[in-house]
Amino acid sequence: MTRSDARPPTAAPTDVATHDAAPLDVARIRADFPILARTVHGRPLVYLDNAATAQKPRATIDAISSYYEHANANIHRGVHALSMEATTLYENARAAVARFLNAARPEEIVFCRGTTEAVNLVAQSFVRPGLEPGDEVILSTMEHHANIVPWQMLRDACGLVLRVVPIDDRGRLDMDAYAAMLSPRTKLVSLVHVSNALGTVNPVDTIVRLAHDRDIPVMLDGAQAVPHLPVDVQALGCDFYAISAHKMFGPTGVGALYGRFDRLDAMPPYQGGGDMILSVSFEKTTYNRVPARFEAGTPNIAGAVGFGATIEYLESVGMDRIAAHEHELHAYACDALATIDGLRFIGEADERASVLSFVLDGVHPHDIGTILDQQGIAIRTGHHCAQPVMERFGVPATARASLALYNTRDDVDALVAGLRRVAEVFR
Ligand code: ALA
Repeated sequence: MTRSDARPPTAAPTDVATHDAAPLDVARIRADFPILARTVHGRPLVYLDNAATAQKPRATIDAISSYYEHANANIHRGVHALSMEATTLYENARAAVARFLNAARPEEIVFCRGTTEAVNLVAQSFVRPGLEPGDEVILSTMEHHANIVPWQMLRDACGLVLRVVPIDDRGRLDMDAYAAMLSPRTKLVSLVHVSNALGTVNPVDTIVRLAHDRDIPVMLDGAQAVPHLPVDVQALGCDFYAISAHKMFGPTGVGALYGRFDRLDAMPPYQGGGDMILSVSFEKTTYNRVPARFEAGTPNIAGAVGFGATIEYLESVGMDRIAAHEHELHAYACDALATIDGLRFIGEADERASVLSFVLDGVHPHDIGTILDQQGIAIRTGHHCAQPVMERFGVPATARASLALYNTRDDVDALVAGLRRVAEVFR
């Protein structure tokens, strides 16, 4: 079977075949996302909850349907044609993720359920072995719960010490505090690339450099970075990088851990089961090579196939162009929201991506979300799985609009009009 036989027909994005300096044709991009044509409460959908999950292009939806219609079988096991086709599709998807992140080789990509599982894998397979009470992991106040709780579990089980880098009033990491925390006891630095609650883009180059100067490995939570910015793990030099497909326009329930090959190769498995072994007897089991060693059981094959198609879609649009479009739109949205009386941003770092988190005097964020919903506008309200950020800023919750490649100035204008309506209702 050839590679092309195994590839489900994916709809090419309608926008571009090449991506030069031309700006995005957002109207044509929007046509690639069927859900954007629907209405909510009789109003056109204005989808600004991309940090929770992003919408899916037709290419992704078709790839998943096509996989189930034409190639469904278990992988790495069968000698029959369908199994081999499914295996090729799955491994092509791994190669696509490797290419997207500029990993040195596909074996550096472990498919998993998403960023949460990726962090748990690193906690259990990289940090836990050899851990001694008093060893440290460095996190920050702006971490998602997925990059806090797995470490607390190791604290409770093994005496790991959590060191937490503080953030300033604008939502920026205190880099002096970070540098001072690096020590011979640090087993791992595990920090978010782009904050889901604040939008802050952290100085990851410096974070990695300072840690590596002391031979300390670094994991980055890239869930909120990869939908918005080009990411090159070799240029970053990080040891691990965790992503979720669903936040980058792919399916739910699948994601990837990038791990530098020598790191992964030295790690024991985290979960046991089928496909992660070379041989099993009751006396002794030998484990499979990387990355199969970390993919116990039948994986989310259709999800991986959809993930691969999503990456091809993003590549054909161009991450550099997506980043430029969103940068301009984010600046427009900041200026527009700043005109609303009583609105206060939570998170005002100069370097931000996608997210606008805010509170409105005298109005609970949930009420903001409910009134906007009546106007067809979807945002998220709450703590955004980042309760330490809420505590840091002394608020129980924020309202959060989050932008993606298909959002427009019209969407932002609708949000601003909606917020004016909220203010009218409450004042
Ligand atoms: N972590 C997701 C968010 O930021 C669910 O909304």
